Amino acid sequence: MSNNSSIQSDSQRLAGRRIVITGAASGIGRVTARLFMEEGAKVILLDRNADALQTAFEGLDTVVAGVDITRDNEVVKVIAQAAETVGGIDGVINAAGIMFTGPTADLSPQSWRQVIDVNLSGTFFVIQACLPWLKSNDFSTVVNVASGAGLLPNAPGLAAYAASKGGVIALTKALAADLAPNIRVNCVCPGMVDTPMADGFRANVGNYALKRIADPAEIARAMLFLTSSESSYVTGATLAVDGGRTFH
Ligand code: NAI
Repeated sequence: MSNNSSIQSDSQRLAGRRIVITGAASGIGRVTARLFMEEGAKVILLDRNADALQTAFEGLDTVVAGVDITRDNEVVKVIAQAAETVGGIDGVINAAGIMFTGPTADLSPQSWRQVIDVNLSGTFFVIQACLPWLKSNDFSTVVNVASGAGLLPNAPGLAAYAASKGGVIALTKALAADLAPNIRVNCVCPGMVDTPMADGFRANVGNYALKRIADPAEIARAMLFLTSSESSYVTGATLAVDGGRTFH
């Protein structure tokens, strides 16, 4: 399949594509995995919560692996095993992440490191581990989940989280330059999304042009676009999927 010319009109936009999805046990990653399966992808699902992952995809034709993405050596092993099982890797969705808020004065070094480790370093380790297979295809894709907090970190208590997500945006652009032309690398920046991560947070939807938070499927559909050949000329992009929170 050529990256530039193939636009499929049926609903199998990922037919035959083998896609690694992290954070697939919950929220955005889980919904994305379901959508991508409907679109014909073979999904390789990673999450540190192995039990939840198993339960969520019981009986479905997936490859699942419990792994903490901050453990670079384990990530390399798990990805290699999965690639061998399905015969390659064509794309990556980096949806695993953790949220942290709190006053900067109380932010412990451990908490700082944990947020940067998971959201930024883990994202990089997964992409790097997939590279041997991504590079061997005519075209491959990577989509990272950053955040509106990385684009417009204007709320208190977000130092570590915003720094990690700003890092994901910069990483996306650096890798888009580094891995072109056969690997496209983009990121999405959701605003508040209705997932377990958002439990306990109250979005001020008055700041959102659309006056509501997102359903995870709305983030998944943006990632479907960036993973499919419909986005064949898009790389290094930062796509805000935030109901208009950050455009002004
Ligand atoms: P979630 O908490 O529902 O799901 C996150 C998943 O990542 C969980 O299954 C968790 O076990 C997994 N995970 C966490 N650390 C991991 C690690 N070290 N190794 C492997 N798996 C790990 O959260 P949600 O909302 O689905 O978040 C997905 C992504 O979207 C995250 O990167 C988050 O920062 C981002 N995001 C979420 C927003 C929201 O309002 N929910 C807003 C903007 C961005």
